[in-house]
Amino acid sequence: MDGHMGMRKTSSHCSISEMDDFDLSRLLDKPRLNIERQRSFDERSLSELSIGLARAGLDSYDTYSPGAGGRSGFNTPASSTRNSFEPHPMVADAWESLRKSLVHFRGQPVGTIAAVDHQSEEVLNYDQVFVRDFVPSALAFLMNGEPDIVKNFLLKTLHLQGWEKRVDRFKLGEGVMPASFKVLHDPIRKTDTLIADFGESAIGRVAPVDSGFWWIILLRAYTKSTGDLSLAESPSCQKGMKLILTLCLSEGFDTFPTLLCADGCCMIDRRMGIYGYPIEIQALFFMALRCALSMLKQDDAEGKECVERIVKRLHALSYHMRNYFWLDFQQLNDIYRYKTEEYSHTAVNKFNVIPDSIPDWVFDFMPTRGGYFIGNVSPARMDFRWFALGNCVAILSSLSTPEQSMAIMDLIEARWDELVGEMPLKISYPAIESHEWRIVTGCDPKNTRWSYHNGGSWPVLLWLVTAACIKTGRPQIARRAIELAESRLLKDGWPEYYDGKLGRYIGKQARKYQTWSIAGYLVAKMMLEDPSHLGMISLEEDKQMKPVIKRSSSWNC
Ligand code: GLC
Repeated sequence: MDGHMGMRKTSSHCSISEMDDFDLSRLLDKPRLNIERQRSFDERSLSELSIGLARAGLDSYDTYSPGAGGRSGFNTPASSTRNSFEPHPMVADAWESLRKSLVHFRGQPVGTIAAVDHQSEEVLNYDQVFVRDFVPSALAFLMNGEPDIVKNFLLKTLHLQGWEKRVDRFKLGEGVMPASFKVLHDPIRKTDTLIADFGESAIGRVAPVDSGFWWIILLRAYTKSTGDLSLAESPSCQKGMKLILTLCLSEGFDTFPTLLCADGCCMIDRRMGIYGYPIEIQALFFMALRCALSMLKQDDAEGKECVERIVKRLHALSYHMRNYFWLDFQQLNDIYRYKTEEYSHTAVNKFNVIPDSIPDWVFDFMPTRGGYFIGNVSPARMDFRWFALGNCVAILSSLSTPEQSMAIMDLIEARWDELVGEMPLKISYPAIESHEWRIVTGCDPKNTRWSYHNGGSWPVLLWLVTAACIKTGRPQIARRAIELAESRLLKDGWPEYYDGKLGRYIGKQARKYQTWSIAGYLVAKMMLEDPSHLGMISLEEDKQMKPVIKRSSSWNC
């Protein structure tokens, strides 16, 4: 199986790749992404930015295959039939546990709670349905041919979006989607009521920037899996999508196409030094834009304008990410030799990064062959940490070029002990400690080194790395990771996260029976069994893009 797995031939309309052609061919000819010789944005003519805005659907409806038994609508690649699938004994247990986490509203299943941990004294908000946590549950249900719960969830959260949202006296944007919600059952009056949290109750009052993106991504997964276009095309879903996008596409003071965020705005939902332009949000933003593009109707001026804005943003965003967030051996060497204090368009070191700020660990960590999107880029600041979710979503959304996707997988293989160790997968690498930990986390006792968000290992990430492996044609890596998970997860009671440099210890404050650990395992297993499922959660490469066979010359050093 190769990177073409699950790709469909669509010829009916142009794609963003037509616009991207200029950039992409430059990048592909010079795979080292040597930013020295790239022209800066302002040098580029407007016409370059606006070619082919007509209809930039990257993904058309015409290839949905309705009712394919919950399958993703692709022909199952021949290779998957070779992997005859013996259900692992853990699978039955996982399904049973997943079903125990179901939440009902007026008799209908509407989501799964974050953890069904009866031993934990502190419930906090783990009894809520988190939007991000529900994604792997939703995928598991879709892959199993049970789409109703996903539809109910999408509609329920859409309804919550319509609420007036306030933190103290401050009103939040209309499009904001909740981080989580809860169903209150009143057994006496026999009523169900919903309560939602948009950040106004969350620890630290963090903003769930990722929720809206996941909602759009899930809407596409549902549509793709079921072939039911009516939900995505309904006026309420069209409006919901536009409201989410309005929050991110507005023009302002920004000088970058990336999305500026406060700390703790995503899966890492507490202070961890990810404020600015965190990779997780940028990758989800890119993916949500592409998913929205495939679902938005253009039957009125508003729809057309929205699509036009999306296309322009995608163009700028991919350029920015592929150039400035990308790090490989060559790029690291270039930054190491940067001059500083350069003014004007000719600047090579555009963000004025001081080479002395490059942390020592990254020189050893960087393999000769391989690369990744770094954690954050802003004036004089590059966060060189590796983050799993952002890099996997970059592969799935094709934010990374095919070469970059291969390089990300090469890095995971080359740094297996560091990134996977004994439990897939580290949320971030490396951990921050001592003085830096005090400053960056505000002395957070939950985020001590190699724990939780600070270099902890999260089983939920297994589904993402498995999907990335399948997309890049490396199912054997996924198999290795799944085997590691199978040796511990059930025995340990499906923990939320593991601690330690190798991920050997059940996390200090980890919940047991954490739903997304369970669902993530199931999704990983089902995708490996039938790789055609990948289509629900993956977007193909730009079709216009020239096939890349050449490898980065830095890999041959
Ligand atoms: C923690 C995680 C967050 C998750 C929540 C519920 O707060 O950091 O990503 O959504 O738990 O599981």
